[in-house]
Amino acid sequence: MSTKIPSLREAYAKYFKIGAAVSPRDFELFGDILAEHFNSLTGGNAMKFEPIHPQKDVWDFRAADQIVAYAKAHGMAVRAHAPVWHKQVGLWMFRDDDGETLSREALLERLEEHMMVFGQRYGADVYCWDVINEAIAHFGKGVLRDSNWTQIIGEDFLAQSFRIAKKCVPDSVQLFYNDYNEWMPHKREKLLKVLRGLLDEGAPIDGFGMQQHLSIYADLDEIRRSVEAYASLGLRLHVTELDVSLYTVYETGRPTITDEMLQKQYDMYVELFSIYRQYADVIDSVTTWGVADSATWLDSSAVRIGDFKPDNVPMQRKNFPLLFYADHRMRPYTEKIIEDALK
Ligand code: GLA
Repeated sequence: MSTKIPSLREAYAKYFKIGAAVSPRDFELFGDILAEHFNSLTGGNAMKFEPIHPQKDVWDFRAADQIVAYAKAHGMAVRAHAPVWHKQVGLWMFRDDDGETLSREALLERLEEHMMVFGQRYGADVYCWDVINEAIAHFGKGVLRDSNWTQIIGEDFLAQSFRIAKKCVPDSVQLFYNDYNEWMPHKREKLLKVLRGLLDEGAPIDGFGMQQHLSIYADLDEIRRSVEAYASLGLRLHVTELDVSLYTVYETGRPTITDEMLQKQYDMYVELFSIYRQYADVIDSVTTWGVADSATWLDSSAVRIGDFKPDNVPMQRKNFPLLFYADHRMRPYTEKIIEDALK
């Protein structure tokens, strides 16, 4: 009798999709893990605005095409991510040929041109699209983050972006708003306000992406409360960028990893998946930001608190925030997460 335990995607088939954010290089590095355990892919960078549309008349579809082709070959779904953001959009987008700031109308028109090209190429291949990423301010009383989008279009750029996106992709593509620190009470209040506002005015939004960039110090009660609150909105929910850092945002040197920290991480992952399973009637997909611990953005960055990042101090520490060891074995909590799903 085989003692092989089922894969993540098999164990979770009755709950939600299991996804990973990837670049095409990951297919060589982690093809074995991806094919066995995952059934959804997000392009980490490949479908963002600037990588795909670096200049007004220049498009680069190479990475996105590879991701779509890999997903098709392996029967995986694709989440598209994320055109309207305060980062990774070339400044050319906001200026005319003389370098003058565009008018609101001209920017909306350009956004539609961009989304139309994207939609025609990938609309049939993706099942959802993070139309807007991180538009809400973490700090202060202000709800929206100041950006080229707010400055030129105004506060209704969110509703406008969803309306434009809706014109550019088939109805099979669910339109999402995606954000981080979504479990922290003051950010949650702002998010709920904005999401309710979009729903009230009839903007074509289908879902909310909870990034879930967490650390072992995140507050599980607040996470549970947040999932409950977002679930009550009537939107579909995806966990879009899960990882659990071993460090706080302030730890920048080479902290020693203790057994206690690893135990906290174990408990956190097991509890998180228990919450996700409990809300599986609204959660359709859980995606980790990366595949295995050998390659994680958290080696050189930190779980951000708003835009706070201790930029002056190099982040020399190695982090281990994902579901697989660098040598492709499952982390101990991953086995437990699988067992719990099979109960
Ligand atoms: C944010 C973005 C992602 C990615 C990560 C860090 O959470 O939404 O696209 O850039 O930061 O890698």
